[in-house]
Amino acid sequence: MKRSWLLAVVLIAGATVPRAAAPTITIDASAPAGKVSPLLYGLMTEEINHGYDGGLYAELIRNRAFLDDPASPAHWSAVNGAAITLDRNQPLNATVATSVRVEVTQASSGHPGGIANEGYWGIPVKPNTRYRASFYAKAAPGLTAPITAAIESEDGTTTYASGRVSGLTASWKQYEVTLSTANAAPTATARFVLTLDRPGTVWLGLVSLFPPTYKNQANGFRPDLLQMLIDMRPKFLRFPGGNYLEGDQIADRFEWKKTLGPLAERPGHMAPWGYRSTDGLGLYEFLLWAENMNAEPVLAVYAGYSLKGAYVKPGPELEPYIQDALDEIEYVTGPAASKWGSLRAKAGHPAPFALTYVEVGNEDFFDRSGSYDQRFVQFHKAIKARYPNLQVISTVGFEHPENQRVRSITPDVVDEHYYRTVEAFLKARGQYDKYDRKGPKIFVGEWGAYETPFQPWNPRSRGEAPTPNLRAAIGDAAWMIEMERNADLIIMHCYAPLLVNVNPGARQWRPNLIGYDALRVYGSPSYHAIKLFATHVGDEILKATATDTGVLVSATRDSRSRILYVKLVNPGDAPAAVQLDVDGAALRPTATALTLAGGAQDTNAIDAPERVVPKASQVAGVASGFTYTVPANGIVVLELATR
Ligand code: AHR
Repeated sequence: MKRSWLLAVVLIAGATVPRAAAPTITIDASAPAGKVSPLLYGLMTEEINHGYDGGLYAELIRNRAFLDDPASPAHWSAVNGAAITLDRNQPLNATVATSVRVEVTQASSGHPGGIANEGYWGIPVKPNTRYRASFYAKAAPGLTAPITAAIESEDGTTTYASGRVSGLTASWKQYEVTLSTANAAPTATARFVLTLDRPGTVWLGLVSLFPPTYKNQANGFRPDLLQMLIDMRPKFLRFPGGNYLEGDQIADRFEWKKTLGPLAERPGHMAPWGYRSTDGLGLYEFLLWAENMNAEPVLAVYAGYSLKGAYVKPGPELEPYIQDALDEIEYVTGPAASKWGSLRAKAGHPAPFALTYVEVGNEDFFDRSGSYDQRFVQFHKAIKARYPNLQVISTVGFEHPENQRVRSITPDVVDEHYYRTVEAFLKARGQYDKYDRKGPKIFVGEWGAYETPFQPWNPRSRGEAPTPNLRAAIGDAAWMIEMERNADLIIMHCYAPLLVNVNPGARQWRPNLIGYDALRVYGSPSYHAIKLFATHVGDEILKATATDTGVLVSATRDSRSRILYVKLVNPGDAPAAVQLDVDGAALRPTATALTLAGGAQDTNAIDAPERVVPKASQVAGVASGFTYTVPANGIVVLELATR
């Protein structure tokens, strides 16, 4: 090939070839423009979309305490003609004030009778796996038969694992058995059964089945889901909500004291998203979850307002709620010898958890009585008096947060929420330039782009995919660019909602970041965009200006390694070349580009989990003034090493 031809081929193929007319992005690396908050990227969580029960919390039995439906044992069915009924005359205890009566009138070893649980859209069967089954049982007089616990196919024809317990008496007692599968092919079309092989009557309470959990922690987490979260390297975990903190009514709030201790002492409660929560994932488990991710808890305390409008008047009526919040903070941070710290120690964690931020309420601007201002003041004073080092976060209004702030006192931090269309996030550039740098710091405690004009909470949107497409990820990335550029002011932010069980009927919202069923999990394009950003963020903000281009940019630097992280977002449907001028740093000639790109409508799904995933490539010829082409619908992180 002639030399001129060879050059032409290289010119066409190269992404780094200088082109005189390309619009310019200038990065000033001579001095940082600000410090990036060390907690910038984190996670927001609540019980929605079966995020905990039927999601991260590894329990496999649905309606394990027979409390979900007062009329019948929902999600349970009879096996081989047994009669199964709720029995409030035989409560397990004062907290779990019911049980199920299982009356087997005809049974043999080939045709056992009993009760089956369908799980959360199936019981996941995995090969060579040990499951821990447990249940409380008491027998009617004369019953001497053992109970068989088994994981079997939905039609009962295939048994994947089974075990027996015997020695039932007329008193409640907890029984445990390990069920081990052999080399079975993975399936979720399976159920859990408890059966007798001869006639008799038995009462059952709090039936539980756990697969192996993350680090084998008791009452723990689904490893694959937790690993997805760990991989995002979140620096904080905001919990327990969200609306889930508040509940529809005051009685439905997240009452943390009722979420502690043995599972049989946790009554669970009605959650605002239309189903009961077991509270198996309680305050202690939230803290362990954060610790497993090496993240700080950001604790939201109930502030006296619930979603349907009930509120507690500021003043003496609010005092018990304030005391409850102080007790909660003591549970998290108090020494093992303190009243509430001792319960944490008893649960297995004598060392206090580090806590910097406490949020008072959630979206309390919905309280039309206007009581939040004074409720916040009361909480703020009490928290600061007892814990002067804690930073107290207030909630603010949607979309016009600057007009809807607490006025009587200046919070340390305010929590803004943004659920917006992609277009709105693309136009948000410069939003935070106007903010007073001497005012409260900003926590963007919930945000997410949706592709359609539907509001995410609108039932009409429920027919669509549970997770967002690449176009939404472009909106998310544009918003992260704006937040990174202002990471001196925005100390933390987190996408919401985080988790969605993709089975029909499981979700209440869209879009959501991570989808899963009983066996599988996948990240949406937005998940990959956030992970890319969160795992490539320095500690210094660099000023980055873009001229004559629709490409959005933010730049940070790691002050130790001197690596520059340049994030580029091209919302257009054609590739966009930009000239990158970097002042004040000598770039090494090769760089790494991590790229998430494709068709705007491309997306991932439970059956196609990796259609849109980041790809790494090497960029040659890097020097100030080089030209880089950002692909259409492209999100790129450039890692620029310096000399
Ligand atoms: O993320 C879903 C919901 O949106 C949260 O529960 C609530 O805080 C917000 O309105």
